[in-house]
Amino acid sequence: MKFDTPATTNPIDRMKVIGQPTDRIDGPLKTTGTARYAYEYHEEVPGAPAYGVIVGAGIAKGRVVSMDLKAAQAAPGVLGIVTAETAGKLGKGKFNTARMLAGPGVEHYHQAVALVVAQTFEQARAAAELVRVDYEVSRGAFDLEAARPSASVPQDEQPADTRAGDFSTGFASAPVQFDASYTTPDQAHAMMEPHATIAAWEGDKLTVWTANQMVDWSTGDLAKTLNLQKNQVRLISRYVGGGFGGKLFVRADVVMAALGARAVRRPVKVALARPMIFNNTTHRPATVQRIRIGAGRDGRIVAMAHESWSGDLPGGKPEMAVAQTRLLYAGPHRLTATRLAVLDLPEGNAMRAPGEAPGLMALEIAMDEMAEKLGLDPVEFRVRNDTQVDPEKPQRPFSQRQLVQCMQLGAERFGWSKRQARPASVREGRWLVGMGMAAAFRNNLLTKSAARVRLDARGMVIVETDMTDIGTGSYTIIAQTAAEMMGVPLERVQVRLGDSSFPVSAGSGGQWGANNSTSGVYAACVKLREAVAQRLGMNAAEANFADGKVSAGGRAVPLAEAAAAGELVAEDAIEYGELDKKYQQSTFGAHFAEVRVDSYTGEVRVRRMLAVCAAGRILNPKSARSQVIGAMTMGVGAALMEHLAIDKRRGFFVNHDLAGYEVPVHADIPHQDVLFLDEADPISSPMKAKGVGELGICGAAAAVANAIYNATGVRVRDYPVTLDKLIGRLPDAA
Ligand code: MOS
Repeated sequence: MKFDTPATTNPIDRMKVIGQPTDRIDGPLKTTGTARYAYEYHEEVPGAPAYGVIVGAGIAKGRVVSMDLKAAQAAPGVLGIVTAETAGKLGKGKFNTARMLAGPGVEHYHQAVALVVAQTFEQARAAAELVRVDYEVSRGAFDLEAARPSASVPQDEQPADTRAGDFSTGFASAPVQFDASYTTPDQAHAMMEPHATIAAWEGDKLTVWTANQMVDWSTGDLAKTLNLQKNQVRLISRYVGGGFGGKLFVRADVVMAALGARAVRRPVKVALARPMIFNNTTHRPATVQRIRIGAGRDGRIVAMAHESWSGDLPGGKPEMAVAQTRLLYAGPHRLTATRLAVLDLPEGNAMRAPGEAPGLMALEIAMDEMAEKLGLDPVEFRVRNDTQVDPEKPQRPFSQRQLVQCMQLGAERFGWSKRQARPASVREGRWLVGMGMAAAFRNNLLTKSAARVRLDARGMVIVETDMTDIGTGSYTIIAQTAAEMMGVPLERVQVRLGDSSFPVSAGSGGQWGANNSTSGVYAACVKLREAVAQRLGMNAAEANFADGKVSAGGRAVPLAEAAAAGELVAEDAIEYGELDKKYQQSTFGAHFAEVRVDSYTGEVRVRRMLAVCAAGRILNPKSARSQVIGAMTMGVGAALMEHLAIDKRRGFFVNHDLAGYEVPVHADIPHQDVLFLDEADPISSPMKAKGVGELGICGAAAAVANAIYNATGVRVRDYPVTLDKLIGRLPDAA
């Protein structure tokens, strides 16, 4: 189905099942421990798997000079050892998968140099300790600030730089000027389920049971890496215990499990132990961001510049932290620039809302600072600079943009009017209390997504697509879509996901999963409805699907009857035409936070948070709310605690486990509330939905940072806002 004109009324608009706060259909499987995750597929694996443990490089950059495997090979239970020498040359996928096994060159710390396979996990782990590697160490670059002067324009399809009007002149002539720099640190996805894979070969066909967000990308990449045809690889990823971008790609667990299974002629399972994940896999890169804003005394922005520096391994990609600044606020004179330095730290890559999440951490503090300079309320300053068109390309309107409504509703519900504009003016005993807010922004991306839908003789509707559910609720919203389209209750729908033998979906990434994957199911259901009508001798355009029946021309027939003579199967994809290019499609929101800060110790406690989101039709308010709450929680982590500490001499992340890498726990998370504006965006898809899973993190950290400033009068521009950055500067400091 080609979607190239705005959606008109369709069966989804009935909202009998769609739009309802339905419990997850996979909830009981998860709460009873019967949902199968990557490491647990024993029943399906042909033969008892052996266990592989990865040996990670002990240096950041250099070369393996020699490896002594004798002791490891002789250790109890060892079946084989894979190294670059024995594995043969790896192919290169769409992403740099050849990097999943080092040797002789080492590109980053904990890059895999070997896989030790043994009968049991304990034997493999013990033997892995016996592998001796001699390295030749090269000098590496591990410090973004030091590498900044050498940063260059990234070779990327995205424009690195954009310009409109004349920033220098506009800024120079602005009556009120603001110029500050901010830093955001390297961050880890820290998802609950570690990267894990079971691999099994049958002849030259490979099956991997793994934890992956993008089944089709990764099937293709695994095939290329192992020099196979894509149809020789089957990838299964039915349940994923969180990804946040860390499982978008084929990582070392998949590649090494496949190589290990080939070497020992037996299925092999590999999980990355938690301390291996932080340096072996990807992370969100640190940024340095400079923001300049020029405005009139009326509070209208005339000039805005946002420049961002980040680093990555050679041939890597920048963190596009300027992305939102191109679209969020009005103003005629504009400049954005992205620079990329070469660093020899582990690979930087996408983490929940790549670009906007760190970009808004800086931009939304800058907006708070500028509002104060102008003597304006932070909400009012943002309202004054709203735009309904792309400010860099004014002929391009937003399909929908209710940023102002989000901020105004949020201010009203949060009690924003009680905020004292003068910082450090509210005290409760030893606590300083403050409120902050920030805008949220994240783009809505459209991408092809296919599905197959079956109707069987029992009247069951079965959906098959390679879409993944990374804890987001995909199973449920896909079931809701099929139920709505076929006019059956949710219990009559079965959803099968996460298998490369199913039609290729959009996958889970960039908050595009919900809207695109359900639109693919919508398209397949339109075809199935036609097939049903044809079987029943009804006019498809007239047929009404409701209450388990199909009716047309005065006849009403149970849906199951259409499949009495044999199962009906329909397959289709949603594909997007030019419509998307005529409009800018984005999602919007507003975050509000109240914090208290201990005036003696600098300890920050978040007291309450509110997010108001405008993200098209909300397919399931319950799962959408969970997404936003989870994202707000990550925002608190980004504001207050998360950072990968770098050993700048040896070039690795020191705090590479969940004892050292701090994330919020329940006690850190106070009352959180989420409101969704009533929206349906006919430009976005037949579902009229948009993404929401990443919107919730965008701006959340800045709202907390701004609340800390309001509470204390101390402005911290370097995340995370830990107490050492506050303590000497608090009003009570001697
Ligand atoms: Mo997302 S960071 O594209 O999983």
